[in-house]
Amino acid sequence: MLKKLLLATTLLAAPLVAVAEGEVNVYSSRQEQLIKPILDQFTAASGIKVNLVTGKDDALIERLKLEGDNTPADLLLTADAGRLFRTKDLGLSQAIESETLKAAIPENLRDPDNQWFGLTYRARPIFYVKEKIKPEELSTYADLADPKWKGKICVRSSDNIYNQSMLASMIASQGAEATTQWADGLVKNLARPPEGGDRDQLKAAAAGICDLALANTYYYGQMLAGDGAEDKAAAEKVAIFWPDQGEQGRGTHINISGASVTKAAKNKDNAVKLLEYLVSDEAQAWYAEHNQEYPVKTSVPASSLLKTWGDFKADSINLSELGKHNAEAVKIMDTVGWK
Ligand SMILES: [Fe+2]
Repeated sequence: MLKKLLLATTLLAAPLVAVAEGEVNVYSSRQEQLIKPILDQFTAASGIKVNLVTGKDDALIERLKLEGDNTPADLLLTADAGRLFRTKDLGLSQAIESETLKAAIPENLRDPDNQWFGLTYRARPIFYVKEKIKPEELSTYADLADPKWKGKICVRSSDNIYNQSMLASMIASQGAEATTQWADGLVKNLARPPEGGDRDQLKAAAAGICDLALANTYYYGQMLAGDGAEDKAAAEKVAIFWPDQGEQGRGTHINISGASVTKAAKNKDNAVKLLEYLVSDEAQAWYAEHNQEYPVKTSVPASSLLKTWGDFKADSINLSELGKHNAEAVKIMDTVGWK
């Protein structure tokens, strides 16, 4: 019986991807078509073969946890600093000393202990329906809690990490009490109980359900640039407002897509080479443009579509703060009844 059990456990933990030298194994929450071409470029330039496994962010982290030391993964590519913090917290990543990474990535977009690195960033601004709202009526995130917006705002549910990270950034800058008051006011202003993803909030605004919505910029970019005529028409009804831009303002909330070298990496050197390649000018421009995100490297310009949205001041806190305050953010959302 014990033998059988041991065998079963071994099978469960067995690598699902063959590990070979001169290779690097990547777990990525980015869809294959949004990452594979740049990985092929890396292979062409370095001779290092890349094996790619794609999946949902949280599922990949779970898988890393389950596989433990037996994981074939050398590099985890995922979105949201909160998740990268969690990966580090679970002991699934390791510190990487690389002058190339430090030079290319602004300090606030990487882990102070060098366990994760931002590769692109996205903002979570306010979207407004152009026909109904004038940008002059908007100012800050704080203003969204004002009763004047009662029944006018769409936002997705609190179980999504993007909202948790947004709240965590507020806790970091204003404290838990002010954040609780804000969240309470926001929930009271919702046009409907939260449902759907970020794209659905923009679609709901376009359909007349709400006047304002919170969403990540790349969803808007994907809707504008994608093949779906309906999505494009919906996106064209809304525009971005960059909140908290005043001199005293902390800037618009941003987050990253990023990467960690796994604790159990068997091909660590190759994983670092791949990471360093991903901050090269060429990779930054391609990766950011195809994902409708901003390059982390300041010397690489944003894509022509993103440039049309105008420049903005981004919140400059170190994104590790988002992970630190995640649990408290979840608690606050619960307290105020943010479904
Ligand atoms: Fe997303």
